[in-house]
Amino acid sequence: MALLGTFLCCLLAAWHGCPGLGLPLAPGCPAPTVGQFWHVTDLHLDPTYHITDDHTKVCASSKGANASNPGPFGDVLCDSPYQLILSAFDFIKNSGQEASFMIWTGDSPPHVPVPELSTDTVIKVITNMTTTVQNLFPNLQVFPALGNHDYWPQDQLPISTSKVYDAVASLWKPWLDEEAISTLKKGGFYSQSVKCNPNLRIISLNTNLYYGPNLVTINNTDPANQFEWLENTLNRSQQSKEKVYIIAHIPVGYLPFSSGITAMRQYYNERLIDIFRRFSNVIAGQFYGHTHRDSVMVLSDEKGSPINSGFVAPAVTPVKGLSQKETNNPGVRLFQYEPGNYTLLDILQYYLNLTEANLKGESNWKLEYILTKTYNVKDAQPHSLYGLAKQFSMLDSKEFIKYYNYYFVSFDSSAICDKHCKALQICAIMNLDHISYVDCLKQYYGKYNH
Ligand SMILES: *[C@@H]1O[C@H](CO)[C@@H](O)[C@H](O)[C@H]1NC(C)=O
Ligand SMILES: *[C@@H]1O[C@H](CO)[C@@H](O)[C@H](O)[C@H]1NC(C)=O
Ligand SMILES: *[C@@H]1O[C@H](CO)[C@@H](O)[C@H](O)[C@H]1NC(C)=O
Ligand SMILES: *[C@@H]1O[C@H](CO)[C@@H](O)[C@H](O)[C@H]1NC(C)=O
Ligand SMILES: *[C@@H]1O[C@H](CO)[C@@H](O)[C@H](O)[C@H]1NC(C)=O
Ligand SMILES: *[C@@H]1O[C@H](CO)[C@@H](O)[C@H](O)[C@H]1NC(C)=O
Ligand SMILES: [Zn+2]
Ligand SMILES: [Zn+2]
Repeated sequence: MALLGTFLCCLLAAWHGCPGLGLPLAPGCPAPTVGQFWHVTDLHLDPTYHITDDHTKVCASSKGANASNPGPFGDVLCDSPYQLILSAFDFIKNSGQEASFMIWTGDSPPHVPVPELSTDTVIKVITNMTTTVQNLFPNLQVFPALGNHDYWPQDQLPISTSKVYDAVASLWKPWLDEEAISTLKKGGFYSQSVKCNPNLRIISLNTNLYYGPNLVTINNTDPANQFEWLENTLNRSQQSKEKVYIIAHIPVGYLPFSSGITAMRQYYNERLIDIFRRFSNVIAGQFYGHTHRDSVMVLSDEKGSPINSGFVAPAVTPVKGLSQKETNNPGVRLFQYEPGNYTLLDILQYYLNLTEANLKGESNWKLEYILTKTYNVKDAQPHSLYGLAKQFSMLDSKEFIKYYNYYFVSFDSSAICDKHCKALQICAIMNLDHISYVDCLKQYYGKYNH
């Protein structure tokens, strides 16, 4: 029976273009013991990147500064050369890992002054990235979310139809149904069932509508009626016993590197958290980009019990500002989940040592860490992450030192997070809403400031 089941499943998978779940098995049929999907984010292609003697001319994204040590795979003062992005996707393709789908949480264009781009160039870059993915993974269902840079002028994503929404609706058609295309055109968001995973739905939010620098949505209590739509969509999923993964570019919660600043406007943050709390039994995970760093978040209910896990994946671009000391190595990640109920089990984080890749002239993407192994936790569920965060908060926690190294994707193992820095990190992991975040900071400053 079991053998026949596996055989049929394999056959069906082949017909529907759904790759097997989990670990590669010889010969042919993968065992459905664990589900997997890829998460890539913040590609930030800089089409101007090229090696030249005048280091101020290597890339437009260095904004006139000398690139620091440019090589074929990039430079820390530049956004991604095409070759870096291609190396990331080639790695994914040749990793030997079978995945059912991929999520891609936005930001394709480079960080350059607004006058150096246009609606057309932004659409060109998104088209290039989409075509690159479609050529390499013709049978993989990909779930994109728009980022604040996926628009011109940047951050100003509108609350109704636009050229960019139309363009992506057309580009992403192979991955989405008609209803998803229709909401994408109107507001830059959609929900879509997963072809290879029964009873799993991806909700791709346009959280750029809630981003501070977006002037279009100032004073708007529900831009593009996305909150109303989200509640209705989650309600429907609840009633049809689906599980949902939330994907978006701008994350909920507080920025881990600054004091008291939410990634989106605070009013919107509170609205989203309220919705996520009410539907926490439907939401099996939340996945974000935008900060370019690797971090986790645990959403708790009003009483402080952990109810949802959130993950910010690190960027592919290594770019940093001239005055910043640290940045991230390029990263991509694989999530593992329980195939029956979409419970999150683990993260396999991969990275490229940019310095080494440029020295050797070849890209050697490597496993950076496995969440459960490196931190000795059971899985990636809210209770496990909550316990881990409690460990981080201990004085001189070795686990936290690891976390802070991985936060920069192993870019600089000598980076030090002092007590103030650590309090901000831990409060951002454990407290997504205003009341509990403020309490947390008080508690940590109280504890550490005598
Ligand atoms: C994307 O742009 C790069 C140059 O930046 C070019 O080499 C590549 O061929 C383009 N790929 C696609 C699929 O358009
Ligand atoms: C870039 O480097 C060159 C050579 O070291 C130097 O002459 C020039 O002033 C630098 N330019 C900037 C903008 O830092
Ligand atoms: C938003 O509302 C405030 C307070 O009512 C008002 O002062 C401000 O001009 C409004 N801004 C916009 C862009 O509508
Ligand atoms: C979900 O929708 C049903 C029927 O449309 C409604 O009665 C119910 O109050 C909604 N539940 C939530 C939590 O919004
Ligand atoms: C998900 O399924 C696994 C395997 O059947 C089971 O052990 C686990 O308790 C389930 N988790 C939830 C949250 O239902
Ligand atoms: C990255 O490569 C450089 C140069 O080979 C090396 O010094 C550094 O230790 C490497 N970093 C990691 C995390 O392996
Ligand atoms: Zn970005
Ligand atoms: Zn962004």
